[in-house]
Amino acid sequence: VIFLIGFMGSGKSTVGSRLAERLGLPFRDADRAIEERADASIPKIFEAGGEPRFRALERAVVADLAGGPASVIALGGGAPEDPATFESLRAATTVHLDVGYGEAMARLGDGAGRPMLAQEDSKALFVRRRALYRRAAALSVATDGRSPDAIAEAIAAELRAGRARKRELATVPETRRVRVAVPGAAHDVVVGSGISGSLAGFLPPLADAEKAFVVTHPSLAGLAGAATRALEGAGLEVSSALVAEGEASKSLSAAGRLLDELAEAQLHRTDLVVGFGGGVVTDLAGYVASTYLRGVAVAHVATSLLAQVDAAIGGKTGVNLARGKNLVGTIHQPAVVVCDVDLLATLPRAELVSGLAEVVKYGLIAEPDLLETITARAGAILAAEPDPLVEIVARSAAIKARIVAADERERGERAHLNYGHTFAHAFEHSSGYGALRHGEAVALGMMAAAHLAHVLGRLPAETVEAHRTALASAGLPTSAAFEPAQLEGAWRLDKKYRRGVRFVLLSELGRPEAGVAAPPAAVHEAIKRLRE
Ligand SMILES: NC(=O)c1ccc[n+]([C@@H]2O[C@H](COP(=O)([O-])OP(=O)(O)OC[C@H]3O[C@@H](n4cnc5c(N)ncnc54)[C@H](O)[C@@H]3O)[C@@H](O)[C@H]2O)c1
Repeated sequence: VIFLIGFMGSGKSTVGSRLAERLGLPFRDADRAIEERADASIPKIFEAGGEPRFRALERAVVADLAGGPASVIALGGGAPEDPATFESLRAATTVHLDVGYGEAMARLGDGAGRPMLAQEDSKALFVRRRALYRRAAALSVATDGRSPDAIAEAIAAELRAGRARKRELATVPETRRVRVAVPGAAHDVVVGSGISGSLAGFLPPLADAEKAFVVTHPSLAGLAGAATRALEGAGLEVSSALVAEGEASKSLSAAGRLLDELAEAQLHRTDLVVGFGGGVVTDLAGYVASTYLRGVAVAHVATSLLAQVDAAIGGKTGVNLARGKNLVGTIHQPAVVVCDVDLLATLPRAELVSGLAEVVKYGLIAEPDLLETITARAGAILAAEPDPLVEIVARSAAIKARIVAADERERGERAHLNYGHTFAHAFEHSSGYGALRHGEAVALGMMAAAHLAHVLGRLPAETVEAHRTALASAGLPTSAAFEPAQLEGAWRLDKKYRRGVRFVLLSELGRPEAGVAAPPAAVHEAIKRLRE
């Protein structure tokens, strides 16, 4: 017996019947079996006995079917929520159809007729259930962008090859801890799958803390529920503030509003601010925490890949001015950074890809092995599978942590983290902000830096190609047409480049050097080669 599980809209019925055909087995839909058993429609069952009645019927039906003749059975999206059903599924051959959050939402439309979506925030429901599916199933199959036949064929092939083996059921989710050994402010980055609900356990002892103040976006508030409940469970009085999405929230006026709210909530010097979000939230919450009462503790739950590998680590906080980005800020190390890779399941794919640019950067400047991991596991990374994400996030965090601990105030080595960024800023500027995603600009910037190093005779052609291979496998661009004159204009405007443009260039993979000057002709040639 093969059970198919997955989120609403993952295509269980369609794929199930195609799979059954391939395997020469009958196909059954568990919901129909439940209706037959109860002699009532599903809405009627819910009306009469609510979810408990439905889950009890489902439990009995799943147990019966599991012991019955060989068949392919599609289950309802909530089936593994019932502990007994979960155990039946783990004991059987269960296949998880892994659909992306965006794809599932697109297929569900407005969610009409899906009672669970009306009750619970869709992102929180998705992340929680996806973790259950992955634990219940022996095999998870990515479905986005594949036809039902292709998916059915892939499952059949795995089953025939006997690769649908039981996963070990971890009772405590595996976590990796990275120490950020900044003098006087050492702390951990904790990376794992399904760990945001354990936030309180990762906090260092906050002796007199009574309150926590969570800063997030409206669209992430549901997802923040598990972390918020954890703080409440630890005895903290939790209040929260919602800030609008987007770079515009990194402003002095948004910071001012938050500071007022902290004062309103009577947060004390010993209390805690929590930034739950991407880099916009962690930069803003960090800035506010560092200035309120001359500094209170901040903990970050980083929810975008960029924040997990970069923005939430290192203590730089900031807001923007009309004249430019991050012109106001502080260095204020967090008490802890929690990177729950399960949360990345609802991150739009373009944001995931954009964050990967920084991961590739770490590979290029510090750990060439990481490039191989990205190239070899790109499909699984882009499908937001927890294992490879834990791997790349933990390794990236470790690289940033080491560099920040050695040079918190960017007097030397920390500048290596700007690899590709001199070009990237100029690309963003000359194409109009917003036209290029930051990660795309960084990807192109690293390609341009590689071309430049090659033109200057510092780097062999195959290292330029290594850049291209890693970036392309991550779904990032590797060529673009820019005019050198435009870039120079952008550089002249930038305060940092007053004494002439300086680049971070490699002399080999893993060996960056900062402050390298290059003659204009070499820069022009590099920009020309970027067209290839
Ligand atoms: N302090 C630093 O050292 C540092 C380093 C790099 C970047 N930054 C800053 O970081 C910011 C960019 O960060 P970002 O790329 O995370 O952008 P972001 O914070 O705007 O997040 C990108 C988008 O993804 C959404 N999102 C985040 N997590 C999600 C999730 N789990 N599910 C669904 N949607 C989710 C957000 O709501 C937002 O719309 C910039 O302001 C940049 O200056 C700071």
